[in-house]
Amino acid sequence: MTEVRSRRQVPRWQDLEPFLQPRPIPRDAVGRRLARCLSVDDVERLARRRVPGAVWDYVDGGSDGEVAMRRNREAFDRVELRPTAFGQVAEPALGTRLLGRPAAAPIVLAPTGYTRLSHHTGERAVAAAAAQAGLPYTLSTYATTSITDAARSAPAGRNWFQLYLMKDRAVSRAHLEEARDRGYEALVLTIDTTVTGMKRKDKQNGFAIPPQLTARTLAGMARHPGWVADILTTEPLRFATFPEGSTYARWGMSNELREQAIRPADITWLREEWGGPVVVKGVQSVVDAVTAVDAGADAIVLSNHGGRQLDRAPVPFELLPSVVDAVRGAEVYVDSGVRSGGDVVAAVSLGATGVMVGRAYLYGLMVGGQRGVTHVLDLLTDEMRRAMAMLGAPTLADLSPDHARLRDR
Ligand SMILES: Cc1cc2nc3c(=O)[nH]c(=O)nc-3n(C[C@H](O)[C@H](O)[C@H](O)COP(=O)(O)O)c2cc1C
Repeated sequence: MTEVRSRRQVPRWQDLEPFLQPRPIPRDAVGRRLARCLSVDDVERLARRRVPGAVWDYVDGGSDGEVAMRRNREAFDRVELRPTAFGQVAEPALGTRLLGRPAAAPIVLAPTGYTRLSHHTGERAVAAAAAQAGLPYTLSTYATTSITDAARSAPAGRNWFQLYLMKDRAVSRAHLEEARDRGYEALVLTIDTTVTGMKRKDKQNGFAIPPQLTARTLAGMARHPGWVADILTTEPLRFATFPEGSTYARWGMSNELREQAIRPADITWLREEWGGPVVVKGVQSVVDAVTAVDAGADAIVLSNHGGRQLDRAPVPFELLPSVVDAVRGAEVYVDSGVRSGGDVVAAVSLGATGVMVGRAYLYGLMVGGQRGVTHVLDLLTDEMRRAMAMLGAPTLADLSPDHARLRDR
């Protein structure tokens, strides 16, 4: 038998040329950084280097032993996505309706307190990126940008306002009024923050809100002069949804000011005060989901606050099928651990109306401000499109529990 051999030849320019086309390299540092990030995990790795260690731990960490936070991720990692044989589609559509209005994808940007620690442009950049992507953005009660300023940076955006109900209802009424005046379309009432979760790393780092200047925090900041310069030369950090100079603007996050025991009647009261859609966030059981909807919630968010509140709390994603079953006529969102388009596809397959993402967009913000957030949203939607194409689901409505299963391990 004769052996197969290649015929040798001298390389010619026209044969090599196609392989030598320079790939476009972004000119600026942010563009170059983002171009290297092909997943949210990549963005996370770069983000870690952009901010002082104590800021990183505040954003990235979980409460107590971080068991809930780990389990949130493990649950998504156990998802098996199951394609429909011969069902592939080339161009799946991600468009959907959230709270009755169109959205480009089933993704909502979750409320995150003190966002300007991640990047000086903070909530304004996140709201603008969300608006540009056609996705709703939720401003936190503990935002470092006022309700009015956040809305101004995303006038065409779908802005939601997250409410921490205050014991002094007049303070909460003022929030509702400003949010209504500035065109916020929904109110997101968070019910999982009876007391603030214990973040051991924050304690060890001497990290506090408002930030305290200790030897340790100063040492951490010295390694990030750019971050420090940005923070010092832009408007001072404060709880900006509260009136400037008030106790709340400085100490807004303290347990004593917040309503610590939220009752179903509070949801009914808010429904009347607000007049628009009310979303209840931090639901962690079937019973509470049904109670919230019976009390007037238009939607609920299954959430353990990204593993930042009660450690060992149930994994929201694992609660999803039973809650979807029990709750009819209300939208069900899920968050805590969403890091990829595959996670979103799995959640929708198991009945979620959509997901909320928190840390994922904060990583983007750390790496590249508004462009970084946009990059993360692009990654998530690109991954969704690829997953749906290979699963054989042309639209979100075609996703069903047949497409996602939780493996035992
Ligand atoms: C830095 C940070 C601050 C947060 N602040 C708030 C807040 O002010 N109000 C709230 O309802 N949830 C808050 N959350 C929880 C998020 O809204 C969301 O539930 C959580 O981040 C989802 O988990 P993920 O980060 O794994 O996506 C915060 C989360 C982070 C990471």
